[in-house]
Amino acid sequence: MKLDGAVSLITGGSKGLGLAIAHRLRAEGARVIVADIDNVALEALPDVFDRRSLDVTQPDEAKSTVEAIAAMYGRIDVLVNNAGVIYSEPLVNLMNPDGMMHSYDRFRQCLRVNLDSVFIMTSAVVEQMVLRRTKGVVINISSISARGNEGQTAYSAAKAAVNAMTVTWSKELGRLGIRCNAVAPGFVDTPSTRAALNETIIKHIEGLTPLRRLGRAEEIAQAVVAAIANDFLNGTILDVNGGVTI
Ligand SMILES: NC(=O)c1ccc[n+]([C@@H]2O[C@H](COP(=O)([O-])OP(=O)(O)OC[C@H]3O[C@@H](n4cnc5c(N)ncnc54)[C@H](O)[C@@H]3O)[C@@H](O)[C@H]2O)c1
Repeated sequence: MKLDGAVSLITGGSKGLGLAIAHRLRAEGARVIVADIDNVALEALPDVFDRRSLDVTQPDEAKSTVEAIAAMYGRIDVLVNNAGVIYSEPLVNLMNPDGMMHSYDRFRQCLRVNLDSVFIMTSAVVEQMVLRRTKGVVINISSISARGNEGQTAYSAAKAAVNAMTVTWSKELGRLGIRCNAVAPGFVDTPSTRAALNETIIKHIEGLTPLRRLGRAEEIAQAVVAAIANDFLNGTILDVNGGVTI
């Protein structure tokens, strides 16, 4: 797909990886709409972005926002499902005798924001792609945790399911001319990673990575742009992790 002029909706694009992806798409000439729940961060974005306040876990809100965007631009070419929240909790926490087992509420909440949101947004956008006969692209931001990351029961489950939906949709939607791929970042140097992992764990991860460093947000954005641009790429989970899984 030619990115120049492509109408591109990115969720969770007001900071972190999403913001890097938004800037990169913009640099390629795309018309970028950033949808995010964080209104303060949205406000701080430059005017080159069309900013929409949206909670991606709310199906009705998602549908009306997507319909409004499609009506305004005439179509949506690209959806990047980036909004998500890194969440760590082991199934059993022996250090917490008051609540040793993983809370079911927190499990469900993690699935809602990292998994249900991807279904909700893709349903709303693909409906517009089909109605308007757009040969579009959906990119899901997965994670290395989809392989099963110790201490991240719910988050790993959510991202593994995102990978499964990516493959399923690539099969179902391919015949409509709509492609679907995922980009699975490894450990990227973002404020969310620094908040989730302490310095000792980060040093350990760097030691396990053949490139001996964390990834950069721009490198994830580069992979997203490549996955959008390549018209024969479909149903792929693109690992961008410095080779830590080799
Ligand atoms: N940072 C990493 O190392 C890393 C690694 C692998 C995967 N990921 C994935 O990349 C994506 C972005 O992560 P990040 O590290 O940039 O996180 P981040 O917290 O910096 O950004 C996430 C964005 O999503 C938004 N968001 C959260 N809940 C939302 C909701 N309900 N509705 C709308 N927007 C919502 C937040 O406001 C924020 O702007 C996530 O899907 C995450 O799982 C990140």
